[in-house]
Amino acid sequence: MTQQFDVAVIGAGPGGYTAAIRAAQLGFKTVCIDDWKNTQGNPSLGGTCLNVGCIPSKALLESSENYERALHKFADHGIRTKGVSVDIAAMLARKDKIVDTFTGSIALLFKKNKVASLHGRGSFVSAGERFTLQVRDGERVEEIEATHVIIATGSVARQLPGIALDGERVLDNVGALSMTEIPRKLGVVGAGVIGLEMGSVWRRLGSEVAILEALPSFLPAVDEQIAKEAFRVFNGPLDLKIHTGVRIADVKAGKKSVAVSYADRDGTTHNVEFDKLIIAIGRVPNTAGLNSDAIGLRIDARGYIEVDEHNHTSVPNVYAIGDVVRGPMLAHKSSEEGVAVAETIAGEASHVNMDTIPWVIYTSPEIAWVGKTEQQLKSEGIPYRAGRFPFIASGRARALGETAGFTKMLAHAETDRILGVHIIGPYASELIAEAVVAMEFGASSEDIARIVHAHPTLSEAMHEAALGVHKRTLNI
Ligand code: FAD
Ligand code: NAI
Repeated sequence: MTQQFDVAVIGAGPGGYTAAIRAAQLGFKTVCIDDWKNTQGNPSLGGTCLNVGCIPSKALLESSENYERALHKFADHGIRTKGVSVDIAAMLARKDKIVDTFTGSIALLFKKNKVASLHGRGSFVSAGERFTLQVRDGERVEEIEATHVIIATGSVARQLPGIALDGERVLDNVGALSMTEIPRKLGVVGAGVIGLEMGSVWRRLGSEVAILEALPSFLPAVDEQIAKEAFRVFNGPLDLKIHTGVRIADVKAGKKSVAVSYADRDGTTHNVEFDKLIIAIGRVPNTAGLNSDAIGLRIDARGYIEVDEHNHTSVPNVYAIGDVVRGPMLAHKSSEEGVAVAETIAGEASHVNMDTIPWVIYTSPEIAWVGKTEQQLKSEGIPYRAGRFPFIASGRARALGETAGFTKMLAHAETDRILGVHIIGPYASELIAEAVVAMEFGASSEDIARIVHAHPTLSEAMHEAALGVHKRTLNI
């Protein structure tokens, strides 16, 4: 007999698995359908984020940073090391173990919350009173019925037209996370989040890294002062060679290397050889195989499923969340949309505030921000004041030996309400949480300036940046 559900979720990435757990907590009979298989060919829940995204990349960033510290930074602390070397197989095994633990724990969370889990590709068969979905795993085909459907099918890496990934010389994020040898020369196409994070990992492990970026500017979505400081640090002490305004003309993968020819911003052609090339030029929404026409689902010209501010699609009782819809492609955005949609189905008032979604780039120094950039405020004609505090003046940053960067707060010139916070520096990823809370509560810079921050902590930089909005920093 066809299994009946109140809610069917397609996709078990951070959006889908969270939506399924929340729906089950709210009392709905819920199923989550996912088709991801790991390299051993086994079903592996967690989507891009857990399998080939957030989690493995952060594991490698941490390992490579430890190696870099041991090689170049311990001496400053009076710690002498000899013969430090990398065991790349052990590093990859540690990363894989972290991934396996987390993907396995989602299966346990499903059991705990009584979410049914089906492995296979989910697609629409028909819409009516209820939706009929097909779940296909190879030859095995099953049909289920559900009253509500949440689509959380995520995204896939954007391809460079005419350039095939071969898994050996030309790689996407999946290949970039599992190179078994350290390439002597590594090329990266795209100076976005993946390019900078993966470029950092392999540079720290010993590769000579060149990043080829199409746009004339570097990190255009980031506050200009922060992007300028990042460009200085990454090209300087960090030794990532970032070339902007580049047009890739040709990529030819050979047995031992890959040849790339590109034109620079003056039109001069360059021919370079790399051992490996990572393509990281953005991601595209994934609706392949959903058979969305069967229910008349509207998909926009860029491939995103059309949704309103509550993630309703064009079809009643069908919702879409995460990378497959508008908004930033971030795990925490996906999962919060998952919670909000489950609660909407339950008749609760729930929504995600797109204005306070934090961004983090896990380079060293880290970059994190929330809210508007200074260039946005200028172009929107919003009057503002800015406060800034450099980490070089922070006692804790000195103790860490990580003094590059600064914290910057932007507040409305008349109301003093915080409009944006931008950080480049140590643990920016953790520091940004205070700014998100402050903005969600409609705080003013004065509020943060009057809150006691422990000493010596990096969070004092936030306090001082808030004081700086009214030109009363105390320690600079
Ligand atoms: P996904 O995680 O893509 O999951 C979709 C799931 O649906 C997959 O398992 C897929 O196989 C399955 N699926 C698709 N179609 C079907 C179908 N028809 N039937 C059944 N199953 C289907 N974000 C951050 O916030 N922080 C980070 O540090 C970060 N690091 C990243 C690093 C890398 C290298 C990459 C590539 C991404 C990173 N991201 C990060 C982005 C983050 O991974 C995504 O925003 C997030 O995974 C999106 O979640 P999702 O649930 O929308 O989709
Ligand atoms: P991205 O959008 O961050 O960067 C892509 C870069 O490639 C851009 O700078 C773009 O101008 C450039 N580009 C595009 N076409 C090009 C071409 N033909 N030649 C040269 N350069 C070209 O995308 P990326 O790095 O692939 O990451 C995808 C998404 O995954 C991110 O936008 C983010 O949403 C998510 N992600 C988030 C992370 C985090 O939160 N720390 C980490 C990694 C990924």
